[in-house]
Amino acid sequence: MEADAYITPSTVSTIGLAFLRPCDNRRASAGEHPIAEIHIMKQKIKVGIVGLGAIGKVHADAYAHCADAELTALCDVDAGRLAEVSEKHQVKARFTDYRDLLKTDVAAISICVGNHLHRDVAVAALRAGKHILLEKPMTLNAGQAADIVATQKKAHKVVQIGMVNRQKPEAQLIREEVQSGRLGEIYHMRAVLIRRRGIPGLGGWFTTKAVSGGGPLIDIGVHWLDLCMYLSGQWHPTRVSAMTYAKFGANMRSYKYVSMWAGPPNYAGVCNVEDFATGLVRFGRKATLSFEIAWAANSEESAYIELMGDKGGVRAMDGKPLKILTEYEGRLADITPQFNATSNPFHVQAAKFLAACRGECHPAATSAEGLTLMRLMDGIYKSAKSGQEVAL
Ligand SMILES: NC(=O)c1ccc[n+]([C@@H]2O[C@H](COP(=O)([O-])OP(=O)(O)OC[C@H]3O[C@@H](n4cnc5c(N)ncnc54)[C@H](O)[C@@H]3O)[C@@H](O)[C@H]2O)c1
Repeated sequence: MEADAYITPSTVSTIGLAFLRPCDNRRASAGEHPIAEIHIMKQKIKVGIVGLGAIGKVHADAYAHCADAELTALCDVDAGRLAEVSEKHQVKARFTDYRDLLKTDVAAISICVGNHLHRDVAVAALRAGKHILLEKPMTLNAGQAADIVATQKKAHKVVQIGMVNRQKPEAQLIREEVQSGRLGEIYHMRAVLIRRRGIPGLGGWFTTKAVSGGGPLIDIGVHWLDLCMYLSGQWHPTRVSAMTYAKFGANMRSYKYVSMWAGPPNYAGVCNVEDFATGLVRFGRKATLSFEIAWAANSEESAYIELMGDKGGVRAMDGKPLKILTEYEGRLADITPQFNATSNPFHVQAAKFLAACRGECHPAATSAEGLTLMRLMDGIYKSAKSGQEVAL
């Protein structure tokens, strides 16, 4: 059994998977993804997609890029969108009800519908014997995520969560740096993702808590918190003290913006989620993680994650060349690693999912990790609501 700091033996036995190799450890060198580039003819895996909006289309393109995938079934309640994506990828089996897609012989599906549907579609798919690549956030809350894990345990199928940022070459390189011990012990992390005016689809599903589960924390913060935990290997958050604010979206008509993703605003809808979340997560006495995540703030735009280790530190995901701050032969030194940064993370994510479906390796982001993240999300919202530090 190969050691994997991210999936404990108990996790594996909980989920009941027979294979124990992380896909990530099969790279040829730092930052590269040979799995995505393997074109040896393997038996094709028939795949389907439920939900063909912004991200469903990206999944369709990613499967089209995988030589070992055959996109054979698509589903969306929007008939026009269904026709458009089906025509583009020449898919004949088209459905407006996902339960009909699950009756086909697809072995695996991507679930790309809104967050409130993740649990139901995932559970139905697992019961139908399908492997699933489930978009983030895993669910609206930890209770729903636990339902998926329990169903997976009986179904013995792959569940991979769409934590696509893990597949960015710089993330893979940092993970190697941490695992090699070159950064030493990671004792603090920062996750910062600030948009000045970036509330998506004001009044639509993103800003309706019953449908989205929350605001920027659960939408984009989940990527950054996952990345910090994945890269550091810290998967046991113990306590959190957090605060959320709703200063911009709540009064919808007074919200000033330049452009709107998933817009225009729907003033007949609701915005009852936070637009800023901040807090401190403790991992026992070993490490801490501070976060600031905003859809809207009177602040400069800013995006990065940072890992501080006692031998080296790194700031990444900020659009700048990766720099490792360390010491070399008695002096402070900045190392700028050279690596191939050309691979498309969605293609790599799909390729790793297919490899996991064939039983060649672990899913690239497991359901157990997804559940841990949802517990953390719940704890953050609970702490913000109560004004107290919360035990996780
Ligand atoms: N990984 C990423 O970087 C990333 C980026 C964007 C969105 N997402 C996630 O992907 C999911 C979808 O987001 P999106 O931006 O594509 O949303 P979207 O609104 O653009 O697309 C959702 C699609 O689902 C369809 N749909 C709704 N109900 C359905 C049902 N019952 N059966 C089948 N189809 C149904 C809609 O018609 C729509 O086409 C969300 O969970 C979101 O958080 C992830």
